[in-house]
Amino acid sequence: MDKTAGTAGGGAVPCDLDHLQGLIYDEQEYSPDKGLSREEILSLLEAFRRTYSSGNLQPWEVIVVQDPEKKRQIVGCTLDAFFRDSDEMRQTWIESAPVVLVILANLRRALSRFGEAGRDVAIQDVAAAVQNLRLSACQNGIASAWIREISAERITRLFSLGKHLLPVGLVTLGFPKNPEKAAMEFEGRPRLAINRFCRWA
Ligand SMILES: Cc1cc2nc3c(=O)[nH]c(=O)nc-3n(C[C@H](O)[C@H](O)[C@H](O)COP(=O)(O)O)c2cc1C
Repeated sequence: MDKTAGTAGGGAVPCDLDHLQGLIYDEQEYSPDKGLSREEILSLLEAFRRTYSSGNLQPWEVIVVQDPEKKRQIVGCTLDAFFRDSDEMRQTWIESAPVVLVILANLRRALSRFGEAGRDVAIQDVAAAVQNLRLSACQNGIASAWIREISAERITRLFSLGKHLLPVGLVTLGFPKNPEKAAMEFEGRPRLAINRFCRWA
C-alpha cells in the first residue's frame, strides 16, 4: 500500500500507519531500568486527546499512576481472564510497568446528550483514544498493554471517583524487559481472514 496515501488538510502526508498497526502487542514484562519522562507521557496524552469523538464530547479522563503503592492497589482491582474477582488471580505483572493509566469515561455530557446510549458512545470514544495513544507509543518505541479485566467498583472506591466517571480499563506503559521477546510477539498473531468477518451488500 502507498505509505503517502494519508491526507491531512487536503495534502498527502507521509504515513507508516499500516506498519505501526501491526506492531502493537500487549507487553506484560517491563524493564525496571527505564521509565517514561513527563514529556513522553504528555506527548502520549496529546495523541489521546486528538481523538475524534461523538458530538465532540471528548468523554474521557485519565489518571496517571507512577507511585508503586498505588500500582499495587490497582492490581487489587483486577480480575482474571474470565472476569472473576479472586485474590489468587490478579494481574500482578501490571506492577512492573513504570506508568499505569487509569482510563475513565466521563458520562455526564454523554448521558445528557444521548440518553442511556451515551454510555456506549462514550466507551467507544474512549477506546478509540486508547488506540491512538497506543499507536503513538508504538511509534516512539514505548510498549503498552490494554487491560479490560478490572472491577469498576474497586477502581471507583480506590480513587474515590464520582458517579459520572466509569472506569473503562487500564493502560500500562514502559519499555520491554526483553526486547527480543517483544520483537517476536507480533509475528504470527492469528488474524481472521476478511471473508470470515465481512460481507458485502
Ligand atoms: C480491549 C482489550 C482488553 C484487554 N484486556 C486484557 C486484560 O485485562 N488482561 C490481559 O492480560 N490481557 C488483556 N488484553 C490482551 C489480549 O488478551 C491479548 O491481546 C490477546 O490475547 C491476543 O490477541 P490479539 O492478537 O487479538 O491481541 C486485552 C486486549 C484488548 C484489546
